[in-house]
Amino acid sequence: MTTPRTVFVTRRLPDAVESVLASEYGAVLRTDDRQLDDDELIDALSRVDVVLCTLSDRLSRRVLLAAPPKAGLLANFGAGVDHIDLAAAREAGIAVSNTPGVLTEDTADLTMLLILAAARRAGEGTRELREQTWEGWRPTHLLGTRVHGATLGIVGFGRIGRAVARRAHGGFGMRIAYHSRHRAARDEEQRVDARYCDDLDELLRTCDVVTLHTPATPATHHLIGPAQLQLMPRHAFLINTSRGDVVDQQALIAALATGRIAGAGLDVFEKEPAVAPELLAIPSVFALPHLGSATIPSRVAMGECAVRNIAAFVAGQPLPNRVA
Ligand code: DGY
Repeated sequence: MTTPRTVFVTRRLPDAVESVLASEYGAVLRTDDRQLDDDELIDALSRVDVVLCTLSDRLSRRVLLAAPPKAGLLANFGAGVDHIDLAAAREAGIAVSNTPGVLTEDTADLTMLLILAAARRAGEGTRELREQTWEGWRPTHLLGTRVHGATLGIVGFGRIGRAVARRAHGGFGMRIAYHSRHRAARDEEQRVDARYCDDLDELLRTCDVVTLHTPATPATHHLIGPAQLQLMPRHAFLINTSRGDVVDQQALIAALATGRIAGAGLDVFEKEPAVAPELLAIPSVFALPHLGSATIPSRVAMGECAVRNIAAFVAGQPLPNRVA
């Protein structure tokens, strides 16, 4: 018989997931849905065996090493783990798992939404309607950019990058170029007629829309900064559904405000949930509050994936999605 383990869940999850966690693991669930502060996270780590956390929990070195933890697993609800200091987790003897794969299609859909919204000036249109300033149909009103036939540059050609390529190529007639640490297999490239750019600068120079699908790591911090934005054509758009950190937000604000690039579609920001008002005030910015995986099927599947990792931990088996 396995020893009972205590599980603490840092945020509200879909009902279906919370009921499994409560019935099978007696999990401590939140009734409110507020972001926990450092002291609350330290307290949880010292009291329970498993913390089911999310990207809104700042699991810094200070938090992870503040007190000898009881917790042996951080089961992250989400694919990205940049909010967890993995080295400190290792030092503290806490394993970390994530939920890759299950949110690919929804995040790729949302990326297409941002590409279309930025190129077709959906933000400006919505604003006119809400502010009741629409003067009616006219031939020169809010003319946008044609997406069909435009070249999409994909930075990071993992699961989500490829799912975006399939949609953009097959559904919207875009040409595909990509930059990635490793070149994809020939059949993957052929599937979407993709051109590989070994050099990020070349990708930025030659694409009409650039979309980011790389995880936030020290190596990708501010991957897109002033020098990179300077390389993009003036008519180009930048799309980000990965992590805010990958883009130097101040440099992006400057590039957009001066018309250095044509616009941006953003789902992620450097200091979430704070978003610079100067960024949101720029008419060519179409922004959403980190909704990439926000569908019921994705969020339930993420929960189920986290539960599978908890189940393996409780049974003393290898974690299916261990990242540290
Ligand atoms: C993730 O899984 O890291 C996503 O950003 C959540 O939407």
